[in-house]
Amino acid sequence: MDDLREKYLGLISDAADEATVEDLRVQALGKKGEISLKMRELGKMDPEERKTAGPALNALKEEVNSAIMARKTAFADAALEERLKTEWLDITLPSRPERRGTIHPISQVWEEVTAIFADMGFSVAEGPQIETDWYNFDALNIPGHHPARAEMDTFYMHRAEGDERPPHVLRTHTSPVQIRSMEKMGAPLRVICPGRVYRADYDQTHTPMFHQVEGLAVDTEISMANLKWCLEEFVKAFFEVDDVELRFRASHFPFTEPSAEVDIRCSWDKGQLKVGEGDDWLEILGSGMVHPKVLAAGGIDAEKYQGFAFGVGIDRIAMLKYGIPDLRAFFDSDLRWLRHYGFSSLDQPGLVGGLSR
Ligand code: PHE
Repeated sequence: MDDLREKYLGLISDAADEATVEDLRVQALGKKGEISLKMRELGKMDPEERKTAGPALNALKEEVNSAIMARKTAFADAALEERLKTEWLDITLPSRPERRGTIHPISQVWEEVTAIFADMGFSVAEGPQIETDWYNFDALNIPGHHPARAEMDTFYMHRAEGDERPPHVLRTHTSPVQIRSMEKMGAPLRVICPGRVYRADYDQTHTPMFHQVEGLAVDTEISMANLKWCLEEFVKAFFEVDDVELRFRASHFPFTEPSAEVDIRCSWDKGQLKVGEGDDWLEILGSGMVHPKVLAAGGIDAEKYQGFAFGVGIDRIAMLKYGIPDLRAFFDSDLRWLRHYGFSSLDQPGLVGGLSR
């Protein structure tokens, strides 16, 4: 047994590769291996002899086996080490120079607007694009035959024949999310609601699908002054200038009283749009103090609370900020346009790092 131990332990430690170790395992411990055959001889021994030979043989088998395992592990580790040396990758290298895709200006502006209002304490709320006429109209103080329904060029969804319920609509504005937010969160409340909206309209500054961001602040001491301050701060932060000329025009929305539309000074020169100078005005948002009936529809005590609300056209302000003359191009999926006006996916807008770089 001592001979066997010495022989195999020596051969195992001298083995040059894993295959040799495997051969040695078969030679010693395989079905017809030297040590295995010795174990079979145990049966022929008398009981006394077996008492000492049995445990000794088992110990030998164990010892040889673990020497084999250890040697195999050592070879595997060395092979892995070798592989890691050839397969290493310098992850500090710059990524491929060619740009594959870009962030769409709408997505970029959506993030910019969210960053600005988040800084003023507004959280983000969302609602469905297919709405009931209750949320899109009635709850916003636009009853059945109100002319505002027609003015909005609403897309109505089809109902099955004989189904008398009013049809669902593609929401014409993000204002229904005002009602949903009031129902869900109650007062006080400060949310913005960005999203897609739909109206049957098509020209240089209108597309059937476009984007708005709704703002809503409800509390016990909210006034028109708060609204004006928030919008001015927003516009300055968004256009990244110290002064932007805004025009608050008295207006009418069924869901706000009083109401104001806000225009921004701009110029169109040979199709180029510039903000802050010129003799033109582009309407960018509607706003006002939330109508008490709307607060009530959202389950809020209109005796105790007031609120302001506004709805900004995301596409409109994207056109203005980035000098994009035709709204329709936003949705043409023209790769050259997307490469020209798109943003790097690594430039996430934030107030600290800057909105647009
Ligand atoms: N919902 C209005 C629109 O789409 C905008 C608006 C929102 C006006 C909130 C006042 C208050 O035209």
